[in-house]
Amino acid sequence: MADNRAVIYMGPGKVEIKDIDYPTYELKDGPGVNPANVGRKLPHAAILKVVTTNICGSDQHMVRGRTTAPAGLALGHEITGEVVETGPGVEFIKVGDLCSVPFNIACGRCRNCKERKTGICENVNPDRPGSAYGYVDMGGWVGGQAEYVLVPYADWNLLKFPDKDQAMEKILDLTMLSDIFPTGFHGAVTAGVGVGSTVYVAGAGPVGLAAAASAQLLGAAVVIVGDMNADRLKQAESFGCETIDLSQGDPADQIEQLLGVPEVDCGVDAVGFEAKGHGHDGQEAPATVLNTLMDITKAGGALGIPGLYVTGDPGGVDEAAKKGSLSLSLGTGWAKSLSFTTGQCPVMKYHRQLMMAILHDRVQIAKAVNATTISLDEAPQAYADFDSGVAKKFVIDPHGSVAA
Ligand SMILES: NC(=O)c1ccc[n+]([C@@H]2O[C@H](COP(=O)([O-])OP(=O)(O)OC[C@H]3O[C@@H](n4cnc5c(N)ncnc54)[C@H](O)[C@@H]3O)[C@@H](O)[C@H]2O)c1
Ligand SMILES: [Zn+2]
Ligand SMILES: [Zn+2]
Repeated sequence: MADNRAVIYMGPGKVEIKDIDYPTYELKDGPGVNPANVGRKLPHAAILKVVTTNICGSDQHMVRGRTTAPAGLALGHEITGEVVETGPGVEFIKVGDLCSVPFNIACGRCRNCKERKTGICENVNPDRPGSAYGYVDMGGWVGGQAEYVLVPYADWNLLKFPDKDQAMEKILDLTMLSDIFPTGFHGAVTAGVGVGSTVYVAGAGPVGLAAAASAQLLGAAVVIVGDMNADRLKQAESFGCETIDLSQGDPADQIEQLLGVPEVDCGVDAVGFEAKGHGHDGQEAPATVLNTLMDITKAGGALGIPGLYVTGDPGGVDEAAKKGSLSLSLGTGWAKSLSFTTGQCPVMKYHRQLMMAILHDRVQIAKAVNATTISLDEAPQAYADFDSGVAKKFVIDPHGSVAA
């Protein structure tokens, strides 16, 4: 029965809006569904009418053909929605609740979940710890760039907004709680950002901008954002960041001009494995950001690495990169006693406190990332525009709830 529509990955460079099944309390076979997950019963799930669902740089890695994502995959892991139905095992979440959905799918019952490491839940992806909606190698949970989506372990995963009317007024900010705001915040926290820190954020995409806004929220003295995309650097300047144009070369000199020393306290990688080299030619050079951060972060400092690195990349620059092996100057990192934090952001660790910061006007995250609302049918164009590097964070509004 086709009473749902979703953004479907059709192959490299191509997404389309297609009819898909309305969710049921069982994980059905389909593109990318792990055989061991087929037929899984989901009495603990809720069905949400999607209010907003954002396009992410993580989706672009798949759509650019840089992962092993299968054609036919329903995309979308950044979801905010209203509960329209609950399974028999849902106890506290109620029909009508307006909720943020952490992009990580987590059971709330395994050792990692109990330790708040919800990005590496052991029970949702038969391949390896960690899962997300609409994502390659993540177990096969159907994506939420759709009209309706199913959220397993609803009592555990969903963050209910305290007041629906108030939430709808700030929905373009709150929609960032499903991923990029906590992810940017996690990048800043794990880079050790605190009051008076100097911070370098590599990448002025939505995650980098969210990391920069988070560093400000955490009290950083100076936040420097580097990219080779002029529009995105302008976006970073619009809320008080210093910027570095990496098409002009490595950032150390420019950091020295800004700070008097060629190093910062804290480094954040908001780029990932499709990083380009610095300077005019800007060829892909996947280890650039990590090696740069090791160079410019002060000894004893920390690197927050939300930027995504994969274990399989059909488009990798060489045989090593195709397997996710990069040429890192780890000796530099070791000599400087740097610490590294990688992996999925455990959204649940941060989303409630960041929701409060939004509701009480402590942060303007929608403005920082230039949240831009579109309809579901405009999503294929928005994927193309985002891929071309526009300084926008696209928010799909599948039912016209935001527009209204
Ligand atoms: N860890 C997590 O939980 C998590 C969550 C969300 C997104 N991500 C990842 O974060 C990364 C950023 O996401 P996004 O949506 O902002 O993506 P994006 O592709 O929009 O932004 C990446 C930016 O990096 C810039 N860039 C390329 N090479 C660079 C370099 N050497 N130095 C500085 N900037 C460079 C690009 O020009 C681009 O503006 C992606 O890899 C995404 O998959 C991770
Ligand atoms: Zn995302
Ligand atoms: Zn778990």
